[in-house]
Amino acid sequence: MDKRKIGMWLYQNGGGDKIQKKIIKKLEERDIDVLAGINLRDAIAKNSHILWEKEKLDKLDLFLSYNAGEQTQYQMYLSKALSHVIPMINPFEAFELTEDKFQTSFLLRKNGIQTADYKLCHRDDSHHLKSIIKKWDKMVYKPTDGWGGVGLTKIENQETLDMLMPFLNQMDLRYFYVEKFIDYDNTDYRVDIVDGKFVGCYGRKASGTDWRTNVTSGGSVFVREPNDEVINLALNATKVTGLDISGVDIIYDRKKEEYVVLEVNGIPAFATPEQEKMGLTFNDKKIDLIVDLIDRKTKK
Ligand SMILES: Nc1ncnc2c1ncn2[C@@H]1O[C@H](COP(=O)(O)OP(=O)(O)O)[C@@H](O)[C@H]1O
Ligand SMILES: [Mg+2]
Repeated sequence: MDKRKIGMWLYQNGGGDKIQKKIIKKLEERDIDVLAGINLRDAIAKNSHILWEKEKLDKLDLFLSYNAGEQTQYQMYLSKALSHVIPMINPFEAFELTEDKFQTSFLLRKNGIQTADYKLCHRDDSHHLKSIIKKWDKMVYKPTDGWGGVGLTKIENQETLDMLMPFLNQMDLRYFYVEKFIDYDNTDYRVDIVDGKFVGCYGRKASGTDWRTNVTSGGSVFVREPNDEVINLALNATKVTGLDISGVDIIYDRKKEEYVVLEVNGIPAFATPEQEKMGLTFNDKKIDLIVDLIDRKTKK
């Protein structure tokens, strides 16, 4: 029997290089070879093959794609083709879904999972937004494909909306996606899931001047124990999306008195070396679960 061989592309910053080494070592112990550092940006497709440095990627037993920062449209485009012929982690369809906030919210809500109330409307239907702000009091405008809190705009009243509209109209958008602003304590839970199992959790707190918890918006990470409700919500949300690996962002709605899924991330970062020192100790568990999953998905 041929030896199993997988391809992998994992971010190298923030301790990613060390994580990669650990994953490779554990896979070697199970007799699985790893071709690492496959940036599809440098690959080409030619007839029935996808080629990267003379390697035929379509012959690999699996591809693990884990690099949010360097994702390009070309890379996504080739990923999609590759996903039709070899197993991928995360599955391409699930990943593509969770890259879009509206598609994710729609599917989660359809499956009975609490999210922020939202509305999506055509760009020419902006008059809807005026009636919504009356009903909701405050709302958040979100680009459906954003990350790191970038481009999110809190709309506090009719006047803010009137001020914002000319800018949005200029941006040549196809649609508007807005969420009801949730009254919460400016902290969230990030719950990591791999292969249907709870891996670990931490919290983030927005900085004094911002309502967003993202680290890129000044938020800070802290050790946080989740309760069963939070864990089960994360497990269920992950199941609905179809992701093998996920990081589910959850906040507590103080008005409705319930937990709400804000976002499901398909490439949740491992704890950085600094965060590990702080007490975020789930990396090894996460690595083990990923290695188990790869082993299972490549069994011949
Ligand atoms: N509907 C909402 N109500 C209140 N705060 C929100 C809402 N949506 C997002 N936020 C805040 O903004 C942050 C970023 O939102 P999120 O949807 O996760 O986008 P991103 O992909 O940019 O991280 C969240 O972590 C949360 O702190
Ligand atoms: Mg987020």
